[in-house]
Amino acid sequence: MSPHAQLVHRRAVDVEKNAQVSDDLAEDDKQRRRKSPSLFRVLAALALVGVTAFYYTASRAWPWDPQPPSDLPPFIREGIKQCEIIGRPPPNPAPATRERTTSDRFVPGTGAVWLKNATVWTGNNKGHEVLYEVDVLLDGGVIRRIGSSEDVRDEAIDADEVDLNGAWLTPGLVDVHSHIGVEAAPALNGGQDGNSIKGSVRPFLRSLDGFNTHDASFNLSIAGGITTMLVLPGSAGNIGGQAFTFKPRWTAENTPASMQVEPPFRIENGSWERTRAWRHIKHACGENPARVYGNVRMESAYAFREAYTNGKALKDIQDAWCEDPRAQSTPFPQDLEWEALADVLRGNVKVNVHCYETVDIDDFVRITNEFQFPVAAFHHAHEAYLVPGVIKQAYGPEPPAVAIFANFARYKREAYRLSPYAAKVLNDAGIKVSFKSDHPAIDSRYLVFEAQQGHAFGLPWAEALASVTTVSAHTAGLDHRLGYVREGYDADVVVWDSFPLALGATPKQTYIDGIPQLVSPHVGNKPAEAQEITTHGDYAKEAAADVVSRGDPDLRPRKQASKVVFEHVKEVYLGEPFVNTINPGRVVVSDGEVVCIGRECVVAEDAAHVDLKNGTVTRGLITAGSRLGHEEIDMEASTGDGLVYDALAVNSDLLSGVLVHGVDGAQFGTKGALMAYREGITTGVSWPGALGPARFIAGVSFSFSTSAPHPLAPGAIGTARAALHLNLDDEGADNNPSISTKLSVLRRLLRQKSVVEDNELGQAFVDAAEGKLRLVVNANSADHIGALVRIKRDVAPALKLTIFGGAEAYMLADELARNHIGVVVAPGRAFPYEWTSRRFLPGPPLSNLTLPALLHKHGVKVGLGLAGIVASSSTRLTRFEAAWAYANAPHVFSKRDAIALVTTNLEELLGLNDGAEVASSGIVAYEGDFFSLHARVRGVVGPGGGAMHLL
Ligand SMILES: *[C@@H]1O[C@H](CO)[C@@H](O)[C@H](O)[C@H]1NC(C)=O
Ligand SMILES: *[C@@H]1O[C@H](CO)[C@@H](O)[C@H](O)[C@H]1NC(C)=O
Ligand SMILES: *[C@@H]1O[C@H](CO)[C@@H](O)[C@H](O)[C@H]1NC(C)=O
Ligand SMILES: *[C@@H]1O[C@H](CO)[C@@H](O)[C@H](O)[C@H]1NC(C)=O
Ligand SMILES: *[C@@H]1O[C@H](CO)[C@@H](O)[C@H](O)[C@H]1NC(C)=O
Repeated sequence: MSPHAQLVHRRAVDVEKNAQVSDDLAEDDKQRRRKSPSLFRVLAALALVGVTAFYYTASRAWPWDPQPPSDLPPFIREGIKQCEIIGRPPPNPAPATRERTTSDRFVPGTGAVWLKNATVWTGNNKGHEVLYEVDVLLDGGVIRRIGSSEDVRDEAIDADEVDLNGAWLTPGLVDVHSHIGVEAAPALNGGQDGNSIKGSVRPFLRSLDGFNTHDASFNLSIAGGITTMLVLPGSAGNIGGQAFTFKPRWTAENTPASMQVEPPFRIENGSWERTRAWRHIKHACGENPARVYGNVRMESAYAFREAYTNGKALKDIQDAWCEDPRAQSTPFPQDLEWEALADVLRGNVKVNVHCYETVDIDDFVRITNEFQFPVAAFHHAHEAYLVPGVIKQAYGPEPPAVAIFANFARYKREAYRLSPYAAKVLNDAGIKVSFKSDHPAIDSRYLVFEAQQGHAFGLPWAEALASVTTVSAHTAGLDHRLGYVREGYDADVVVWDSFPLALGATPKQTYIDGIPQLVSPHVGNKPAEAQEITTHGDYAKEAAADVVSRGDPDLRPRKQASKVVFEHVKEVYLGEPFVNTINPGRVVVSDGEVVCIGRECVVAEDAAHVDLKNGTVTRGLITAGSRLGHEEIDMEASTGDGLVYDALAVNSDLLSGVLVHGVDGAQFGTKGALMAYREGITTGVSWPGALGPARFIAGVSFSFSTSAPHPLAPGAIGTARAALHLNLDDEGADNNPSISTKLSVLRRLLRQKSVVEDNELGQAFVDAAEGKLRLVVNANSADHIGALVRIKRDVAPALKLTIFGGAEAYMLADELARNHIGVVVAPGRAFPYEWTSRRFLPGPPLSNLTLPALLHKHGVKVGLGLAGIVASSSTRLTRFEAAWAYANAPHVFSKRDAIALVTTNLEELLGLNDGAEVASSGIVAYEGDFFSLHARVRGVVGPGGGAMHLL
């Protein structure tokens, strides 16, 4: 199993274990409440005092006298201070202007930077303003001047001059949903601070209090252009706690407090002060509170109502006390438990609600109206696009924004119905859309990839850029200083190596508070076509189908033709050996086979004609590493193949063990498979282990057609016995045997010369040792991979070995090449999810080479695979992954090499062609260049052949 899946699994296990604990605590809590005098009775008594006071004192308007007369008793003086704080109008900071010359985050000694000749996306004019050939001066931690060189020159004394040669410059990206710092990488049991398991309603918890400044993610996120994050507590409970905004920049102080931007509280002149900045809070409905606290949806709704009733009671008695402080005989009513919700009701807190489904959104919108508080954003909100009208009914001056994933879906019931066109639909309906990472769910370094996907599937470019900058800054209550390139705004800008929505876009430099963050960045130059603003594809029809079907459309392609002529074909990648043909003009496909390539091809009269507009014809792409083929909804056991038995635990005598054949649990016609097919992924490879801990001996993999309806359809099963799969990385399993135990078992199994009859498991290892059955081992650590190399060298030189994962494999590149060991890099863009991958190779701008490129350069056969909880929904993005790999290493990969990463190399590395049968691969015809964001499948046929589907 993939590293991240294990990570998630472990969390799930922890949560289960803790659910019991938390129940006990909840019981304790109840008893305590029964015994102690009810806070409520006390508060109610106080309220009465306040209300009575109302009748004989005039109500007082803000601002209050900050210096109450000294003859008053101290408790009244202190209370008056509190009245001043709660009486303030809600935050409404004026936007920074060009007169703002210094930021509160300015680091003394930071020099000015004069960025010359930039192409600037400012965020102004609803995201449509682009300034060409302008200079930007950063000074005092702010954007001091934007203009021509002449405009800037006078103020740019002593500034560092950087010629950008027309490179794109945007505001720094704002990630409006991150758990960076509270779920730090690499994941360790000592560092899971995102969720409390002590109760479902914990409005008094603060993400700031658990923020680990040593998270390995900060510099990685900066390398992706992230300059601000809203760090939310997790969603285990209905009210997980308060959220805080941070910049990822390393500070000299190295404290959570020093990384904050506009903290709502701070130490000022030696005293603890409430500032005028926004506060933030996290709420969650749906499955997570149900899973962790047994708060089924009805309970969640009640939990919110109860909590807000308490918040309102506190607000009322505080307001009443403040009606006439001098008349009070008891101190100002304080209550740590409910003060944050009272502040929500006063309009001082941005409410961020994790809600997925129609029912959840509908519930919460009702609650906002019952208690009269606005929502800043619905997060995840996979079904928001089905109910934009409901979102507009939320209480408050403007509709909540919606902070969604572009594609990450189907991992649980409530995530089943997300559409790739959701952002387009919401935007068309006038709802503001943000993409967010939910880091580390998605590595926030690649937040811009979310915006790219949104754009690819119908969101206009201006809104796509706004979705990770201006909209997010607004949701986080920071658009008065962040999210735009404007004079006086914070000097948080990113210089890109291409138009930011081009696949592979990488920062050349990220400035935070005017400080360049990347120390000697590695950046190449992207080609001219990658610099251009692009137009989104027209997906109106597909979007409408998703809306009409409430997110569960019939994805089986309808239109088909047995003879198809593709015209204006620019490139073809086909055949064995795998070759490309440039500018053939025409490609003729008949019954699922390419029968002619070239301008002179004769065309049958009854053939369908498709103009590919300089497009690409390739063999079908392959996906591997997800649960596709074994499971539809990751967290719903009934939709999958179930648990794999543990040969090490169950069967002490391995030599009589059963070998699990993945193909026996194969699933067809799933939503994930059809979505992948429609993007040109015609073949999936899967191995046992859909659910639960990854076992050391997983079993045998198989390949399958993503378009076949059932296992007996033509071409449904490609290779039934592809390779033997083992897992070394398996932190998720309880009683997980040690690496050395596993490798000792492996050594023994490979050494045996023969096995008793009917012993399939033993036989598989004999076959592996003889090179008749490929062995694929999931491993990331260079130490573990090195140990495998030793075993192959010493025990089974004929072994055909593939490493799956391989985050640290580059450290042994030469050894791997020498021993003919290939690597399926999974995920293609690595992240140190676990300790075993902490030495991963990050790629540009942090290293010259990407992990796949370095391995390839050293002669290692490389493929791209998937890993983690995002894997199953990422299968359809396989082309994008190949394009990212190419875009960031064009000096290492040819285009053909890059396509081989997701086709022929995977075929070899996963043993698909080792047997007698060589599965056909299917064919895909893309309108437009395979490597551009906007290529689009117009024709596809699976390995079963037959008529071509036209899309
Ligand atoms: C800006 O850079 C572009 C691309 O290199 C170049 O063509 C143009 O002349 C430059 N403009 C200025 C004002 O230097
Ligand atoms: C802190 O002291 C400075 C300088 O004396 C003053 O300008 C500022 O207003 C004070 N801040 C508060 C919150 O009292
Ligand atoms: C992160 O980047 C800063 C430079 O901004 C550098 O000083 C620091 O060493 C980096 N941290 C790591 C872990 O690479
Ligand atoms: C990596 O190095 C090569 C050769 O030195 C260079 O051509 C390329 O631009 C560099 N790429 C990056 C991303 O630094
Ligand atoms: C295809 O490429 C040719 C030459 O490169 C160009 O002239 C033509 O405009 C392109 N057609 C389309 C539809 O992009």
